Amino acid sequence: MGEIRWGDGADQSERLGTSRGDPTIYTDPARLALERDRLFRRTWHVAGRIEQIPEAFDFIVWERVGQSVLIVRQPDASVEAFHNVCRHRGARLATESGHCESGAFECPFHGFVYDSTGNVVGVPERASFDPAHLEGLRAAPVRVEIYGGWIWIHMDPEIAEPLSEFLGPLADELDWYGMEDWKYYSESTYRVDANWKVVLEGFLEAWHTPTVHTGTVRGGFEPLRGTFASLAAHSMMVVPITALDIDSVPEPVVHQAWADCQYLLFPTAFINMFPDQGNLITVHPINAEQTLCQGYVVGRSKAPAGMDYEKWDASVARSQGLMDRIMAEDLAISNEIGATRDSFANEGNLYNTHECRITHFHQQLDKYLVD
Ligand code: FES
Ligand SMILES: [Fe+2]
Repeated sequence: MGEIRWGDGADQSERLGTSRGDPTIYTDPARLALERDRLFRRTWHVAGRIEQIPEAFDFIVWERVGQSVLIVRQPDASVEAFHNVCRHRGARLATESGHCESGAFECPFHGFVYDSTGNVVGVPERASFDPAHLEGLRAAPVRVEIYGGWIWIHMDPEIAEPLSEFLGPLADELDWYGMEDWKYYSESTYRVDANWKVVLEGFLEAWHTPTVHTGTVRGGFEPLRGTFASLAAHSMMVVPITALDIDSVPEPVVHQAWADCQYLLFPTAFINMFPDQGNLITVHPINAEQTLCQGYVVGRSKAPAGMDYEKWDASVARSQGLMDRIMAEDLAISNEIGATRDSFANEGNLYNTHECRITHFHQQLDKYLVD
């Protein structure tokens, strides 16, 4: 069951504390370059859902933080990933997700051919190359692992720790849901005119629910009664759902079964979990001032007790609309913050104990950036 996250002693907000932010980290292009090289390159990213590539040679083109990655389902059902960058002169092997009938990717520029794992298997005008340049040539590898039905990638396999180590105590939390057996429903893409950290910060506290989410879930949660915890570089909060009386549940409370549990999958994904359904949202910079988010809807493939499966299935499918409306509320306020990014009055954010996960996030981020 893992650690107690609700009840006496569960809340860590006092320990995680308060802080004042540095306003330059949202605007400085040099800071973004540092984040790309020292943070995004060194961490695992959620790149999709395994059901998106059900057949052999189905593939995803994942493009974030200046990188292009090909994620390919193999005939033995495993998944391989490699940089979508031709070793000859750098063209992309594919520009959109899809299916490759032959399992061989041919570069559109001069026709180098790659197998489904990234090995170069065909070189036009081979005799005109220095043989030493071609020996063992393959697309630069990307590490890929599947956890909870999600496709995770690490863009620098030489330094990647195993995903289970990277997730650490977060996996103990997420294991409860058994998301590997859940159904993937749909996804949406969102663009925001604000720095990626502004967007992510919005997902690290629920205090804004009554003021920002006025058209959706306004009174549905009790954010001021939330409990907070750090999980290595990741973090979580347990937000009581008004309709479910978490106080009347016998202790110790299995928080996943009774509350809205929100997790930061450090550093670029957020997952909002209800006992039987959830939304995962990835957050990556386009540049210092714009952000790209991808939101996925998943739900249990069995209906909760007492509910007909067809009704359940239809209700999770409909929740895509709710996610889009909630995201529209969140992203409208992120756009507001983006609008004042260059203000002379911008002296740095103030984070209270309801926002302790933001303080923790920046501390973890800084650790990656210093060396
Ligand atoms: S860039 Fe790919 S074959 Fe020339
Ligand atoms: Fe929100």
